[in-house]
Amino acid sequence: MKIYIYADKEKLFKDVSRQIIEEVCKNPNCTLGFPTGSTPMPLYKNLIEDYSQNKTSYKGVTTFNLDEYVGLKKNDVNSYHYYMMKNLFNHIDINLKNANIPNGVASNLEKECARYDALLEKHNIDIQILGLGVNGHIGFNEPNTLVSITTHVVNLSNSTIEANARNFNSKEEVPTRAITMGLKNILNAKEVILIATGLTKASAVKMMIEGTMCNTCPASILQTHPNAIIYLDEEAASALKNSKNIVIKN
Ligand code: GLP
Repeated sequence: MKIYIYADKEKLFKDVSRQIIEEVCKNPNCTLGFPTGSTPMPLYKNLIEDYSQNKTSYKGVTTFNLDEYVGLKKNDVNSYHYYMMKNLFNHIDINLKNANIPNGVASNLEKECARYDALLEKHNIDIQILGLGVNGHIGFNEPNTLVSITTHVVNLSNSTIEANARNFNSKEEVPTRAITMGLKNILNAKEVILIATGLTKASAVKMMIEGTMCNTCPASILQTHPNAIIYLDEEAASALKNSKNIVIKN
């Protein structure tokens, strides 16, 4: 696990964007894993800006989103389908047939998970980008998720529902279930980039990096990944005390 800490958040997102753009240029048929949430928004903004300036093409790129709420239709403003269209896909030349997101309104959710796993098996994710939940979740892999789990339906924890309620009119409107890629799918990626910014993530960041690897903090599983980079701003890194492999980026 490499840990990069940035005083300048803009630089953090420039560096992550550069890494993604370099991958797409080097390997136009690459497979990328995408998260949602507020954290990756500046990354998507940079990718769009680069596309309009440099025409980096995503025509051959395949993408997999980590998760989707159960019960929200694609055109629901709170669905992750809607988020991806609005914040990235509508603005680049990706072939939407290659942009995979779990279907949260599938009539048979178990079948939908199996369909997603089968697709993931055909494509080895080159770079999986992740955000971090305040309780240490990645994707929607909540505390106490098994490491061996693949795509599955999850009951969201109260802390996740509360954290995500800011995007809905009320806490009651937040779906209580989601489909998520499992920890096993995430660990299969050749490279993992996790981004965490802000004080609200400091304790999850500490558990992920300095805690013993255990399923109380699902993100701590990244300690076992041979090629994981954690990008942090100073606030998210503020609780770290004895981490190895830290690089300070200014
Ligand atoms: C959601 C998503 C995660 C995301 C997390 C953090 O629960 N399922 O993939 O990483 O929220 O979101 P934010 O970046 O808004 O803090």
